[in-house]
Amino acid sequence: MNTIKLFKKNSVNSEIEVVSDKSITHRAVIFASLSSGQCEIKNFLQSADCFSTINAFRNLGVVIDQNESNLKVYGVGINGLLPPKSDIDAGNSGTTARLICGVLASQNFKSKIIGDKSLSKRPMKRVIEPLRAMGANISAVEDNFLPMEINGNPNLKPIRWNSKISSAQVKSCILLAAMFTNGIVEYREPVLSRDHTERLMKYLKLPIEIKSNKIVFEGKVKQISPFEVIVPGDPSSASYFIATAILVPGSKLYLKNVCINPTRMGFIDTLIKMGAKIVFQNERIAYNEPVADILVESSKLRSIKLNKDDIPSMIDEIPLLAVVATQADGVTEIRGAKELRVKESDRIKTITSQLSEMGAKVVEQEDGMIIIGGTKLRPAEVESFDDHRIAMSLAVASSIVDGETIIKNPECVSISFPNFWELFKSI
Ligand code: S3P
Repeated sequence: MNTIKLFKKNSVNSEIEVVSDKSITHRAVIFASLSSGQCEIKNFLQSADCFSTINAFRNLGVVIDQNESNLKVYGVGINGLLPPKSDIDAGNSGTTARLICGVLASQNFKSKIIGDKSLSKRPMKRVIEPLRAMGANISAVEDNFLPMEINGNPNLKPIRWNSKISSAQVKSCILLAAMFTNGIVEYREPVLSRDHTERLMKYLKLPIEIKSNKIVFEGKVKQISPFEVIVPGDPSSASYFIATAILVPGSKLYLKNVCINPTRMGFIDTLIKMGAKIVFQNERIAYNEPVADILVESSKLRSIKLNKDDIPSMIDEIPLLAVVATQADGVTEIRGAKELRVKESDRIKTITSQLSEMGAKVVEQEDGMIIIGGTKLRPAEVESFDDHRIAMSLAVASSIVDGETIIKNPECVSISFPNFWELFKSI
């Protein structure tokens, strides 16, 4: 078994650039594949999850050439995908599995989606139900799990769907399927989840409208014009460095070129409410996404209470918030975060158990955690559970421990942040 040894950090004074955004990379590859010509995706995220999407579209007949961090995608047109040569392997990537269903549901061929052990335990009913309501033919293990078989139906019907959960993966799946239906698709979710699909659709001049709390997609798409995007830095990946700079006394960190899409800003907004010194500089819009450079200084934090409305915009950062909350003044409460139980690991369980190993006072709740702040963390041997976000959150915790922290199975960071360990050790 692989392990990594980490030690306390003195102070962090650096200027860094984190890896590119994972969500935007997936979406750019999907729309480029369905476009009517040659697209360029510059600065794409070269991580395992994104390669799952790239290889899935290669399997569906799309030529995608990589030159370092740039992709040339030779779009086959909205109706140009070919039957897959083999099962479509989504690997560890929920985004690949759920988004690609929305495309495959309408094709005039059969396909089968498989995934790794962790992905095969994650619920798919959330996309199967609305797609079936549109007329899709899908079967899955226990009607909920991969492998999933799709017998494409080119005559999908429009729907009005009120999703019970706020999930950008479900929303994007339905918006992709909507492009192949004749009529108007309406989609509502309880709280706005990340809106990269909507933004990219607008950038590509597709018939999408946001009307107060619903999304309306009007009509069958005949063509997506070829396009170029430059993918900005991933705010979720940036959050590990932001948290480290806040927790390690005497730190000042400058992060360049980070996507600051409001639907992803829950973690930073929460930190600011807790008293963190974070400022945005050089704010700009690039390819319909807001981007900025971020300056962070070490800060004293107060505790906070979060409920279900706060969760979607920081869904991937909750384990990291638990780490940060161990050092805040007072008791932090995170509620309404049940979705964490169906991520790459049961993140409520995994972060609670591993932070407890480090001496933190964290109490697991059915839908979140209660964290007693102001606790000194101690050296320990902890487990990533092959979950990239757990590994990186524990790394942040190690930076304030007097002594050695050992993280088991650290290589899972390759899912979203392949150079994480080098960059983390360099600051
Ligand atoms: C993602 C959406 C989120 C997030 C995941 C990426 C996306 O999942 O946790 O890391 O790119 O759409 P849910 O939509 O299931 O909450």
